[in-house]
Amino acid sequence: MVIWTPKTILGKGNILAADESPTTMNKRLAAVGIPKEKEYRNAWREVLATAPATHIYAGAIILHPESFKILIEGQPIGEYLFDHNVAPIVKVDEGIEHTIGKYEEAITKGLGTLPDRLTEYKAQGAVGTKWRATYLIGENTPSHEAIYKNADVLAQYAKAVVDADMVPIVEPEVLMAGDHGIDKALYENQKVLTAVKNHLDEYNVDIGKIILKPSMVIPGLDYQGDDLYLEDVAKKTNQVLSEVFPRGVDDSFLSGGQGDEIGLYHLMAINQALNGFDAVLGYRRASFGRIFVNEPLKGWATGYMDRSSDTLAQNLLMERLKAAHLASNGVMHELNLSYQG
Ligand code: 13P
Repeated sequence: MVIWTPKTILGKGNILAADESPTTMNKRLAAVGIPKEKEYRNAWREVLATAPATHIYAGAIILHPESFKILIEGQPIGEYLFDHNVAPIVKVDEGIEHTIGKYEEAITKGLGTLPDRLTEYKAQGAVGTKWRATYLIGENTPSHEAIYKNADVLAQYAKAVVDADMVPIVEPEVLMAGDHGIDKALYENQKVLTAVKNHLDEYNVDIGKIILKPSMVIPGLDYQGDDLYLEDVAKKTNQVLSEVFPRGVDDSFLSGGQGDEIGLYHLMAINQALNGFDAVLGYRRASFGRIFVNEPLKGWATGYMDRSSDTLAQNLLMERLKAAHLASNGVMHELNLSYQG
């Protein structure tokens, strides 16, 4: 039986993030013409959980608590995934509220009820959890207060999860919204990750027991400057992680709104630049949501009612998970992904 730890999860492969809240998932379904109903949210999660690509290439899937109740082939989804060599992970934050300071920055909710929920999800087969904090880059943000308070909450969360013998995914997401350049992204990621590291140390969280889910260091979505070389992103992303975690940490990047090809090329470049970087110091894998599932969902929309498009969706997922597998092992290769328009 596999003991799922950060190293065994990321040693097997990348993580498939399929934990959109029902509201976000409804938006994604509506965007491709699928009714915003629980039946279809659950069916979509089943398509992902039963995909051969997931079983072969994914170290873990992150699911929303709603999906943790699904049965697959008569088995609870947590048990089903475990039996197919995929670590079941559950999102445990309860979303964000905009209440910090005069810029109404985000703080993530859910600490109060966390211990009871950990007990419940562990009993349902979860071996890990995820908690996401968000930071918006603007003229005056992220403020010191937002950085400090979210780091404190992330560290308390990680402590509770490690104490429950589960793997916490710690996700401080520096959002891509904005027109900032890469150096501003580097600077803000540096501040955010440093605060997270300091608070993890303060709460005596063993860094070897967590998976960090950072942003890549990339310019904002509305950045108008020159195009960047892949090497710039790789160098700056690796720089910030190595400076903040000189003794290593296992990472799995979020995609944050990047297109699938560019995100996968970035992942390749990051791993290639490590030049033999040792897994002992930490993996640099992916934990993508949109990069992995946007196109598969479009494909699924062509036959979701009678489930005639399940295989098409799973094939599109296979292309992306396989490409990410090579990328996260530093194999530079030309992407040849199919699109559904
Ligand atoms: P994206 O990869 O789509 O950014 O989502 C990953 C995730 O889990 C965000 O919390």
